[in-house]
Amino acid sequence: MIAIELKGISKKFGGVTALDNVSFKLEKGKTLGLVGGNGSGKTTLLNSITKMVAPDRGEVYFKGKRIDKLPAYRIARLGIGRIFQTGGVFKNMTVLENLLVASDGKRENEAERILKEVALLEKKGKKAATLSGGQQRLLEFGRVMVRNDELILLDEPFAGVSAENSRKIESVIKKLQEEGKTIILIEHDSARIKRLCNQIIELEKGSIIRRE
Ligand SMILES: Nc1ncnc2c1ncn2[C@@H]1O[C@H](COP(=O)(O)OP(=O)(O)OP(=O)(O)O)[C@@H](O)[C@H]1O
Ligand SMILES: [Mg+2]
Repeated sequence: MIAIELKGISKKFGGVTALDNVSFKLEKGKTLGLVGGNGSGKTTLLNSITKMVAPDRGEVYFKGKRIDKLPAYRIARLGIGRIFQTGGVFKNMTVLENLLVASDGKRENEAERILKEVALLEKKGKKAATLSGGQQRLLEFGRVMVRNDELILLDEPFAGVSAENSRKIESVIKKLQEEGKTIILIEHDSARIKRLCNQIIELEKGSIIRRE
């Protein structure tokens, strides 16, 4: 089954072409690595899926259903989760509260099980603001896990993260893969991309210049 498909997505910001006729398909359970230099359109591609940006042209299909006309909040409810390039946790809430607000009525012991998986159980009562950058990333992964999203969009989750937390994040991604999640991963380290991804797309000035 195809989890996510883009057909001819284009987006301009003023005179800047952020995406130019981008098309690809990704099967359920696979991980796509999205690479390319700064400003090549990677984040805009994820934004076009979640509708944080409205594409000028093209279509987006999630599990065969066209979604590009839906508002962002409805797309999020379909089971598409996201880790942002910059900060996606509620800093004034505790670690546990961050999971509970994402969890749609799931119980505290389920949230605690997930905190254990992202190595944050002993921090559960601490304000998210007191966590390191890498731990905040792990907390974002926890929020995606508690929501049980099927498609997970990761925008440079390793950026600025310590080696130790990077290892933890990598093992969390592997766990999500074992659970059959579909993932799009933006990442600059090519060795890591090779380890984690089934296929690769490279963008340059908004166009796909390489597929592997
Ligand atoms: N909201 C916006 N308004 C105006 N221009 C934008 C906007 N978002 C992105 N752009 C421009 O579109 C192009 C693609 O940006 P995008 O953020 O998608 O690149 P990226 O590949 O994620 O880059 P980076 O590696 O730096 O995160 C850039 O030229 C950027 O300046
Ligand atoms: Mg980006």
